Parts: sequence; C-alpha cells; structure tokens
Amino acid sequence: MKHHYSYQAALEASERIGWKVDDIIGGDKRLDFTKPFMPESLAQVKQLSFLTPEEQLTLNQIRGHEYLAMFGLVEEFILPYVVNHARSQLSGDDYRVRALLQFAGEEAKHIHLFKRFRQEFEAGFGTKCDFIGPAEDIKRFVLSHSPLGVSIAILHIEWITLRHYIEGVRDNQDLDLQFKSLLKHHWLEESQHTKLDTLIVESVASTATGDEIDQAFQEYAAIGEFLDKGIQQQAEFDVESFRTATGRQLSKRERDDVTAAVLKGMRWSYLGTGMTHPKFLETVQGIKPEARQQIEQMAPMFC
Ligand SMILES: [Fe+2]
Ligand SMILES: [Fe+2]
Repeated sequence: MKHHYSYQAALEASERIGWKVDDIIGGDKRLDFTKPFMPESLAQVKQLSFLTPEEQLTLNQIRGHEYLAMFGLVEEFILPYVVNHARSQLSGDDYRVRALLQFAGEEAKHIHLFKRFRQEFEAGFGTKCDFIGPAEDIKRFVLSHSPLGVSIAILHIEWITLRHYIEGVRDNQDLDLQFKSLLKHHWLEESQHTKLDTLIVESVASTATGDEIDQAFQEYAAIGEFLDKGIQQQAEFDVESFRTATGRQLSKRERDDVTAAVLKGMRWSYLGTGMTHPKFLETVQGIKPEARQQIEQMAPMFC
C-alpha cells in the first residue's frame, strides 16, 4: 500500500471544507450563457470546424448539461452504496463511522447541487435537452453487482472528478465562473471521497477470495460497458438537443461528425479519464496486477 490515507484525516479535511448548496447557487449566482461551461479537453467541440463559434458554444453548454445530469445519475447509486457500507461498519473506529457518514451526506448534497444547476440550466438555455435514465433503473443495475465490483466502479468515478478539475478547469480563464465554481466545490469534497473509497475498496478486497476478486473486475468491466451503452445513447440525445437549440440543418456527414466528436468527448470524460488514472490503477494493481494490465489494454478505446 503506497498511500497514507486515513478516515481521521479525511474527516478533518471534510469538516474544514464543508460548503452549503446555497453558497454555490441561487440569488445573484447565475449561469452566464455567453461563456462555455466545459473545458475543451472534455467538450472536444472545436474540432468541428464547420460549426460557427456560436454553435460550438451551444454544443459545449449541452455537454455541460449532460455533465450535470450524468453526475446526478451516478451519485444516485454511490449514495446507497456508501450508506449500505457504512451500516455494516457502525461500531469500532469512531473516525471511520463519522467519515463514512460524512461521505454519504456529501453525495446527497451533490445530488441536490447538480439538480439545482440543471434547473437553472433548463430555465436559461431555452430549449429542452434530453437525458438517459431513469436513474432508478441504472441504480438497480449497478447495485446488483458485488460490493467489491461496485466499489471499484465508484473509485473510478471519484478519481475522474479530480482529474476533470485539475487538468481542465482550475487554470481555465474562459469558463463560466458559476460552472467553474460548481466543479471546484465538487472537487474539494471528491478529494476526500477518492481516499475514503480507496480505503473501502482495500477493506472489502482484503476479505475477498481470489474468485470474488476475479468476479469484481468482470463486474467493473460490465458496469463500464453498461455506462458506455448509455453514453452512446446520450451522444445521440446531445446531437438532437443541438439541432433543436440552434435550428442548424446538418448533412448526414456533418451529423456523423458531430455525433463522433460528442461520443469521443463523453467516453474520455467518463471512462478514459478513470481507466488511465494513475491512482486508480495503483489501487487496482494492489488487488490484482493482471486486472491493471487488462484495464490498460481496454483504455485506448475510450481515450
Ligand atoms: Fe459527488
Ligand atoms: Fe464522490
């Protein structure tokens, strides 16, 4: 084990950070629809040179809406997972109990925050943007897998939020300040979740048999495949939202190009950034080195 994560340190950091939803959105804190919401590293719309700058901006904002909806959706299965895990750990280490309950409370707050942003987006954007779901079905599918398999998938998700912020948002001066604030505040708390989920994964893996570990990595791949099917569907929705919002008629070739760019951007945002994250891979390696190699072999499809 190369890290020095502890429940106590994560709890203390979380208590220092603690923000409220109303600190981030509401009142004079509004989205500015003249600015992009997503960093280009994730949005990947500028390569579509046949779109005007205004159309690229609209597509960027649609990807921003999709990000809000996607995180709202994955947090819906992270919350019950963490609550269930905490329920089985309610005695013993006081710091662990409190850190896990804090983790769950923060994810509930994030679900609320992403919903508030979506409401504001919908009020200001002007046209409707569809999103995959319902969240209930996705939650049921993901949570039907073993606790270890689900915790590895969640660890992947926790690490990608850090990477999105650090690599694309923190030093970006072009983004809408309100959306940037959302990503910053999410990152601040996800920084503890990555550590806590690493501890969860390691603790669940420590009592698992070799077969259970093999199964968990198959489940991680199955959950990834399931999310990728959702991503393919969502890419079509994003393109349709773009057509509705701009009224732009796309030739078959142009539509294919827009769909391919959105799909590539989404796969990198939600799958590739996790499957290539050094810290995620480090934890995987600690459990089963061959699983790391398999993930690294699959990753280029999503990068
Ligand atoms: Fe979150
Ligand atoms: Fe999280």
